[in-house]
Amino acid sequence: MNLPDLCVARNRDKVEVKHIEQHQEYEPLFKGQKYFLRTYGCQMNVHDSEEIKFYLEALGFTKTEILEDADIVVLNTCAIRENAKDKVFGYLGRCKHLKKVKPNLIICLCGCLVQQPHEIEEIKKNHQYIDIVVGTHNLNELPELIVKKSPKQDIEVFSNSDKVFENVKYARDSQVCAWINIAYGCDKFCTYCIVPYTRGRERSRKMENILREVQALKKAGYQEVTLLGQNVNAYGNDLGLGYNFATLLEETAKIGIPRIRFVTSHPWNFTDEMIDVIAKYENIMPYVHLPIQSGSDAILKKMNRRYTIEEYKTLFNKIKEKVKNVAITTDIIVGFPNETDEDFKATLDIVNYCKFDNAFTFIYSPRVGTAAARMEDKIPYEVKQKRLKELNDLVNSYSLASNQKLLGKTVKVLVTEKSEKDQNKVCGYTDTMKLVNVEGAQDLIGQIIDVEITAAKSFSLDGIVKK
Ligand code: SAH
Ligand code: SF4
Ligand code: F3S
Repeated sequence: MNLPDLCVARNRDKVEVKHIEQHQEYEPLFKGQKYFLRTYGCQMNVHDSEEIKFYLEALGFTKTEILEDADIVVLNTCAIRENAKDKVFGYLGRCKHLKKVKPNLIICLCGCLVQQPHEIEEIKKNHQYIDIVVGTHNLNELPELIVKKSPKQDIEVFSNSDKVFENVKYARDSQVCAWINIAYGCDKFCTYCIVPYTRGRERSRKMENILREVQALKKAGYQEVTLLGQNVNAYGNDLGLGYNFATLLEETAKIGIPRIRFVTSHPWNFTDEMIDVIAKYENIMPYVHLPIQSGSDAILKKMNRRYTIEEYKTLFNKIKEKVKNVAITTDIIVGFPNETDEDFKATLDIVNYCKFDNAFTFIYSPRVGTAAARMEDKIPYEVKQKRLKELNDLVNSYSLASNQKLLGKTVKVLVTEKSEKDQNKVCGYTDTMKLVNVEGAQDLIGQIIDVEITAAKSFSLDGIVKK
């Protein structure tokens, strides 16, 4: 048993990072059995679930979408806000119930939630029916833990990591768009955020390994890759090999895969070199997710965000100027401890200034162990809810306006899948990351096509194939 510890998780002493090649073979010992996998949280977790899927399928399990049919249930969890946790424990209730009628059911928990010591205490005390708990740093041990499962609850969570695994195998969800990890962890320690604790210190993959992965994906017919990191700007800094994110982006572009995206970029240290590379290559999509978090300098300081609103505006304008037709989206938190009406007003002001193409908005949620969780907060929850509503109304009006600008225009859409709502439609994304539902045949999946926009809503567009 290995249990997480927040002091170890906080540790950023310089350590030598080991890059380890994975070459494990698995036996399909569970042939005929079914797995049910549920994912919470960000793109990184979605991609981790593709690794989990690979392990489960290598062990012989096949996928089921019906919980009751499963022989193994894996919940890949998130810890970013309290409601992410509530969802997981809510779902665990169903799993517990199922285990009563299916005693051989294996229940596994992985992801960010289990990196938190207080959650592990809760699991040990009140959720003994969970068989296997594995953390974010040793997901590769999941198959072994399943194979040698004992009747006792097995918790294997490490607090931090000095490793980067290479040659990781994935059972990818899509054959059109692929996620690629470029760096793990985060060293920024924004005071509200749990990620530096759950994902450990910043560790970059070596550029040659990333490029090899891009080449293989291109060869397999992928149309799009998204480079993933909590803070892609920091890519390469820990390696000291003379390359950085701009270098990686440029080398990726040269491989010639049709579409390249990246998330997330921090407004701090978003270099001119990065902007120039984005502007230069047609296959780097004109889309930047640039989380602002707040419009108030006082709050940004308390959040440890390392930029002022003036600096954000300068960067924002520079990107808009240099990258043709660029779309910029953001994340905003309302109700940070003791956020005043003036602070909140400043957030509305910056939204009015930037007119973001889209914004993800959240009510601040205290996370155990973070600096902000220890700050005094006198703002009632109802006030925070009211602020969120006001902010959402404003943000949505700009999303709608930016979508309406495309009415009647012809845009390039990479068709990714059948539309969820209407089986006669397919959906995909514009280069600026706007979701489009397109009338037409399924044989367009995987192609970049011209679409004429016929309707615009706040969160999506409708269109027809332009012949
Ligand atoms: N590394 C990325 C993503 C972080 S998590 C980044 O820095 O942008 C995604 C978003 O969740 C953050 O941008 C922030 O807006 C929000 N978030 C993080 N911690 C939060 C908390 N404690 N309460 C509410 N929202 C939070
Ligand atoms: Fe969290 Fe800040 Fe790191 Fe993003 S940059 S993951 S918000 S600590
Ligand atoms: Fe959640 Fe962990 Fe991602 S906390 S948002 S799954 S990095």
